[in-house]
Order: sequence, then C-alpha cells, then structure tokens
Amino acid sequence: MDLMEAIRGRRSIRMYKSDPVPEEALKMVMEAVRWSPSWANTQCWKVIVVKDSKMKSDVAGALSKNNPALSSIIEAPVLLILCGMKGISGFYKDQPKTEKGDWLMFDVGLAMENLCLAAYTMGLGTVIVGNFDHRRVAEILEVPQNIEVVAMTPLGYPASDGPAPRRKEIPEFVFYEKYKT
Ligand SMILES: Cc1cc2nc3c(=O)[nH]c(=O)nc-3n(C[C@H](O)[C@H](O)[C@H](O)COP(=O)(O)O)c2cc1C
Repeated sequence: MDLMEAIRGRRSIRMYKSDPVPEEALKMVMEAVRWSPSWANTQCWKVIVVKDSKMKSDVAGALSKNNPALSSIIEAPVLLILCGMKGISGFYKDQPKTEKGDWLMFDVGLAMENLCLAAYTMGLGTVIVGNFDHRRVAEILEVPQNIEVVAMTPLGYPASDGPAPRRKEIPEFVFYEKYKT
C-alpha cells in the first residue's frame, strides 16, 4: 500500500471482530514502533500488550462511560498501552534541553502513529485513546513511577468503520514566511 493511501485511509475503529491478531502481525506493529524517530534516538517508548479479558475490562474501567472508544477496549482481542520513560527524551545530562521539558509525549505520539499506520496496512484497526484516568491504568498495569502512561489503542480486525471526519483545508493551517492571524 502506498504511504499516502495509508495516511488518508486509516480511520479510528471503534467496533471489532473477536478474531485473534496473528503473532506475525503483532510483531510487525512493534517493528513499526521500533523504527519510529525519537529525540536523539532515545526511544523512550514502552508498550504493554494486554490480551487477558479481565485485565482489559479493568483498564476499560478507567475510561468514562461516554468515551466512544469504551466498548472497543473490551471487544478487540488485543489492547496496547503506550508509555514513555520520563526524563530521557529532550534531556541532556539530566537537564531538559528546551523550555518544553520532557518530549516523551511527542515521541510516544510518533510511535503511536507508526503503529496505527502499520496496523492499517495489514487490515487491522486501531483507535488512539487518550481520554482516561492515567493514574488508575498505571496502578492496574503496575507501571513504575519513572514511566508515564500516555495512550492506548485496541488492535483487531474492524467490524465496521465510519466516514472520515472532515479535515481542514491546507490554507487553514499553512502559512508562508510568517504566521498569519
Ligand atoms: C491524542 C489522541 C487522543 C484521542 N483520544 C480518544 C478517545 O479518548 N476516545 C476516542 O474515541 N477517540 C480518541 N481519539 C481519536 C480521535 O477522535 C480521531 O483520531 C479523530 O476524530 C479523527 O478521526 P480518524 O482517526 O478516523 O481520522 C484520540 C486521538 C488522538 C490523536
């Protein structure tokens, strides 16, 4: 599949079949994470793979009832939780290099997009979920203090997808030479 085709075609999938994800496909998805760019190649990402039903429903409990991705967390055969090691991305000798501090959100975000695109090329669905109680998920998954839970995505074969939500036109966000208000 052509890259632009994947970028345009990938959709957030919120309904899944129960069919298992082949180990080969899961490995390929991790390979996409592995080759993501990161600050000074620090690769701060950590991925927790959850397949156990009880574990999935415990994690789903950290989402609010009105999160549209709620049922997909339980429904999909695999749940991937992306975390980042704190104090590495954007740091030099333990000091932040920029006023932005820790760049872990950025790097884990890049890894997540690579993951979603790779999954899509193999016919697998994902939906990035960021709106949940992160502390609660960290507790459930026994994530240590130096690691931050960032986002999660179910992984599985789509049962249905929706239309693409409207995107802004390019002139709405691109400026030349200087920012224009
Ligand atoms: C950082 C981030 C957090 C998100 N959190 C949620 C979420 O908590 N629940 C949900 O249903 N979708 C969530 N989404 C998915 C977006 O709603 C979705 O990407 C957007 O509407 C565009 O649709 P598309 O992915 O099909 O192109 C999130 C996406 C991103 C990038």
